[in-house]
Amino acid sequence: MSEKLTSKMAMELEDKYGAHNYHPLPVVLAKGKGPKVWDAEGKEYFDFLSAYSAVNQGHCHPKIIKALTDQAKILTLTSRAFYNDSLGVYEKYITEYFGYDKILPMNSGAEGDETALKLCRKWAYTKKGIPENEAKIIVCANNFHGRTITIISMSTDPEAKKDFGPYTPGFITIPYNDLEALETALQDENVAGFLVEPIQGEAGVMVPDEGYLKKAFDLCKAKNVLFIADEVQTGLARTGKLLACDHEGVRPDLLILGKALSGGVYPISAVLADDDIMLTIKPGEHGSTFGGNPIAARVAVAALEVIKEENLAEKAERLGKIFRQEMKNISSSMIETVRGKGLLNAIIIRPKNGKTAWDVCLKMADNGLLAKPTHDHIIRFAPPLVITEEELMQAVEIIRKSILSFE
Ligand SMILES: Cc1ncc(COP(=O)(O)O)c(C=O)c1O
Repeated sequence: MSEKLTSKMAMELEDKYGAHNYHPLPVVLAKGKGPKVWDAEGKEYFDFLSAYSAVNQGHCHPKIIKALTDQAKILTLTSRAFYNDSLGVYEKYITEYFGYDKILPMNSGAEGDETALKLCRKWAYTKKGIPENEAKIIVCANNFHGRTITIISMSTDPEAKKDFGPYTPGFITIPYNDLEALETALQDENVAGFLVEPIQGEAGVMVPDEGYLKKAFDLCKAKNVLFIADEVQTGLARTGKLLACDHEGVRPDLLILGKALSGGVYPISAVLADDDIMLTIKPGEHGSTFGGNPIAARVAVAALEVIKEENLAEKAERLGKIFRQEMKNISSSMIETVRGKGLLNAIIIRPKNGKTAWDVCLKMADNGLLAKPTHDHIIRFAPPLVITEEELMQAVEIIRKSILSFE
């Protein structure tokens, strides 16, 4: 495997030997640093996807990489059959950081969501007194919480769902950003939780009305229903606050984190909650071989420290405003809408002469910026939060030039 691969060779290998469950842009990345990545031939790009907001701290952040490599030389995995000398340190750090009694560590975002669903159901039966197997969880249309069977059971996206049934029961779907629908759904006494993305990322950066989260939280509280925030994509400074829920002063009963919890160097997710909820799960009832392993513990602490040390939330807030204004200033009939919060933004592309969001992304890649369409007509822009204002303006220029080339 010492042979240096060209981009063409790398793509052929993936096509031939890998499952075709993704449709990547034809770019082969070989290196990353801060907000930039380089392809196999050395061409430089701004990364405006950040691995779906996992690389908020920038590619290969030196502090996070040091935590990874230092720990990797000492102890990597013990399983939870034993204690290890890193996990408790991490648990203390993250619970104080977010102000919860306890954390349950997992690996992928989907596992974090699954864990929250299990905690919610367990709480429903052991605390709220819902009859066994009757608990329901309210979810929103166009949600994205991952790819497991239970999670796709909550999905309304036919692409994610079709031909994977039978589905897990126990969910009520309501429209996103619709308080009346929530109020109606909450009439059902067997409702245990409301699972929501504070901004729907995969749906195309759908920002709800101001006040939605706070009112939704209050409605849940009035009915003794758990407010469960999936902040896997929106959390950790991406939207201009540490958590997107912080914009409305909402403290979720169950908080799900993933992606940038490792700065993109390792799969790390977590669920945070207070004892009343977390301690409903007893030894043997849930777990993961890799969850909370020593490398993950050290990496997550470093990744969280970087967010504070480098003021990434404030930076996302400030640069996000500049970015949206610059996008609105581009005078192209292809730009239908610009929306977002902090550095989680999207533009809706109106196709022109048969050219779609995919063509715009190809053109931007040619010009040195990587972004990916979601749902055919939406392009999400989410650079690493370590990007400087000067770099952001260079990136804006690439986007402007690429879009205007279709005029
Ligand atoms: C809001 C949200 N939840 C959960 C997930 C799933 O995370 P993972 O791909 O790590 O399982 C994602 C992934 O994009 C997400 O955006």
